[in-house]
Amino acid sequence: IQAALNKGPLRGRHAIVTSGPTHEPIDPVRFIANRSSGKQGHAIASALAALGARVTLISGPVSLPDPPGLTTIHVETAREMQSAVQAALPADIAVCAAAVGDWRTATEAGQKIKKGGGAPPSLALAENPDILAGISAPGPQRPRLVVGFAAETEKLEEHAATKRARKGCDWLVANNVGGTGIMGGNENEVLLLTETDSAHWDRMNKLAVAQRLAAKIGDYFK
Ligand code: CTP
Ligand code: CA
Repeated sequence: IQAALNKGPLRGRHAIVTSGPTHEPIDPVRFIANRSSGKQGHAIASALAALGARVTLISGPVSLPDPPGLTTIHVETAREMQSAVQAALPADIAVCAAAVGDWRTATEAGQKIKKGGGAPPSLALAENPDILAGISAPGPQRPRLVVGFAAETEKLEEHAATKRARKGCDWLVANNVGGTGIMGGNENEVLLLTETDSAHWDRMNKLAVAQRLAAKIGDYFK
């Protein structure tokens, strides 16, 4: 195995991969989360490692085991994920597959919020930092290749192109999460936008998507 890794197209490269959801606490027992399972991000991390990359996987709370052959860092919130990404730099490659919570509660209650019989509480929200936009910004630490994801339920092409431009990433993998069984499931249907082209991949297993994306990254670094 080691001999094979030493020959991989990504040998000597460091890749950071974010994966899974984030949990944004409301109080000590409750949180805001989403349906991400981490399956796609974890599979990408493993596929990059299989091509010889040194991989740092930064994972939100998932029920998957830590993949063998790479370093997994566990985080809960978007802000923790951002700090972990910054601490893992420098890197040649960043793949931001995590479904980062867009909002956290503006304040976290120190104690469990009780019912008390009155009106239901309302949650004031604050926007989380954008990890992908941060890592895509020009600077000495910017990875050579930054790949973002986009979870969309409609107008895939249009939203993906706008998102790629807005985030400043090099490639963007747009997921059609409107399809049944994609978010949290084993299959994915993606549109890959690069600097030069746009390709629609037929619906396939998330492991196959990961291998195909990793192979493309391998070609990029050849
Ligand atoms: N992302 C991130 N940090 C955030 C939000 C998103 O790094 N705070 C990353 C995701 O990991 C993904 C990409 O940005 O790679 C796009 O995420 P998505 O939720 O599709 O886009 P948003 O910019 O959050 O826009 P919206 O949810 O409104 O469509
Ligand atoms: Ca979002």
